[in-house]
Amino acid sequence: MISIRRLEQATPEEREALAELLIDSVDGGASVGFLPPFSRDAAVEYWRGVLAALGPGLVLWVAEVDGRIDGTVQLAPSLRPNGLHRAEVQKLLVHSRARGQGLASRLLQEVEQYARSAGRTLLVLDTLAGSKAEAVYQHCQWQRAGEIPDWARHTDGELHPTVLFFKRLAP
Ligand SMILES: CC(C)(COP(=O)(O)OP(=O)(O)OC[C@H]1O[C@@H](n2cnc3c(N)ncnc32)[C@H](O)[C@@H]1OP(=O)(O)O)[C@@H](O)C(=O)NCCC(=O)NCCS
Repeated sequence: MISIRRLEQATPEEREALAELLIDSVDGGASVGFLPPFSRDAAVEYWRGVLAALGPGLVLWVAEVDGRIDGTVQLAPSLRPNGLHRAEVQKLLVHSRARGQGLASRLLQEVEQYARSAGRTLLVLDTLAGSKAEAVYQHCQWQRAGEIPDWARHTDGELHPTVLFFKRLAP
């Protein structure tokens, strides 16, 4: 059974599961800010920072399959006075063993529901051009705003473009 819940703090087991999730994505070649080889310590350190930053400017969810954390996503609502209607979706990750079951869709639905209820009417994100994630966002009715070349180094050592997406939410 798939369930989605917001995480405001994390047990040691949850931290471990989040670290494993990030390592799995980085090792699998996802463009999520890090390059392989990616150590467990680096993953734990990344999540320590995220968990410490949770609050009005950062919200975290996990997706569980039969009680095991297999997916996650973050939303960073803008705290700028002129951007209080806007938020950025970050680090949508689904473990390779759990892909294709709708976890990403469910996580994105949850993010949208939260954003709407918090008065956020514009969501933005960026993702590696040509990736599966790009196809998933398009499938989930995100609009492609454009591409920026040479955005991030990829596992092949080359610089790759990123795609900027946005989604307007009815208030
Ligand atoms: C991208 C990623 C999050 C997708 O996770 P997932 O749980 O396998 O995705 P889902 O099963 O929820 O699929 C999402 C939707 O896209 C559709 N979809 C999946 N692959 C697709 C493709 N190649 N083309 C079009 N639609 C596709 C699915 O049918 C599903 O639609 P539905 O909800 O209407 O059935 C996952 O592959 C991942 O974690 N990749 C590595 C990390 C990464 O790149 N994250 C993005 C960072 S911005």
